[in-house]
Amino acid sequence: MKNKTISTHTRADVTKAFPAATPIYQNSAFESQSDYFYSRLNNPNVAELEDAIRVLEDTDYGLATTTGMSAIQLTLSLLKPGQRILVNKHVYGCSFKLIQWYTEHYGLELVVTDLSLESIDEKLKEMDMVFFETPTNPFLFTIDIAKVSKHFKALKSTCLLVIDNTWATPLYQSPCSFGGDISLHSATKYISGHSDVMGGILLTNRKDLADELRSRRFYTGANLDPNSAWLLRRSLHTLDVRLERQAINTKRLVDYLETKNEVKKVYYPKVDGKQLTNYATLIFIDLDSNIIDNYGQFCSHLKLFSTGTGMACVTSMIAQPYTGSHASMDNCEKEDMGLDKSTIRLSFGMEDPEDLMNDLENAFQQMKGK
Ligand SMILES: Cc1ncc(COP(=O)(O)O)c(C=O)c1O
Repeated sequence: MKNKTISTHTRADVTKAFPAATPIYQNSAFESQSDYFYSRLNNPNVAELEDAIRVLEDTDYGLATTTGMSAIQLTLSLLKPGQRILVNKHVYGCSFKLIQWYTEHYGLELVVTDLSLESIDEKLKEMDMVFFETPTNPFLFTIDIAKVSKHFKALKSTCLLVIDNTWATPLYQSPCSFGGDISLHSATKYISGHSDVMGGILLTNRKDLADELRSRRFYTGANLDPNSAWLLRRSLHTLDVRLERQAINTKRLVDYLETKNEVKKVYYPKVDGKQLTNYATLIFIDLDSNIIDNYGQFCSHLKLFSTGTGMACVTSMIAQPYTGSHASMDNCEKEDMGLDKSTIRLSFGMEDPEDLMNDLENAFQQMKGK
């Protein structure tokens, strides 16, 4: 045999490697005796991540996807032309746009309402899918999953209840234990926690839905890549300690912000200890017009809060949803959900809370008399 051929077929003997952590299976293909077939269908790193998250959120099935948006897109693909979807009015801007685009393109009926209100609008007809976040982005309103599930399943038993659980995290809320059919996450946020990887996850207790979603993921090529799965799995190991620290920081900073005249309102979700057991990191505040008119200047005085699209990371961040996370919606749509330029999103990281407080205080002081 020629050296070239021997070299081509050279492989490490890993039968005695016993690695302490799962290596990255950077494979597209597997040999015919493998359980994995092809990485568009499945991959060991993806499977490990799926199992680790579904156990945390207490569901039977988990499916990782390239991003949070692809998890939403796969869910929407369960609908057929002519069917009706309800979306809660307070929802991430790109999710709203995707749902709007999907319903126009595929001939579905879209209904937008506020599910965080005390009572559900009795005039609403039967739905094929109900999609919402709780706590909501923006404003962190909480929606009673069990109540919404009971209401819409009584109208139509096959109605699918889909909950974007990104901001609650798999640790603090398990939507499928309260009547949700599908819970999904942008794993890019809290689960990654380091602003260095993108991913999404779909969770369910229903085998029929897991099978449907798995085959759609296979045919659309929406499976997560092994490298990202490995990073997310690694991040998941520290999710609880990160959130514990960030929850403490968040409470301290909320108490401080509530004392500030420049802050007109602080939004923090209802933690009832039952549906939502704790909360960390992301809050909204309404700032007075003096600061909003000079928002860029206010941000420039902050040394510990970076600006941009990231959030729920180990470092703190500030953003204006009107021009950022909800920029894809038109002004009327933003007005309908009650969003204007004065609402600011803060994401508290793992810095010392005193330092975060001092940084905000310094920026408030610098803006005095502006
Ligand atoms: C609540 C929520 N869902 C979904 C997404 C989309 O996730 P991704 O950016 O991973 O596609 C985001 C992104 O900000 C989000 O905030």
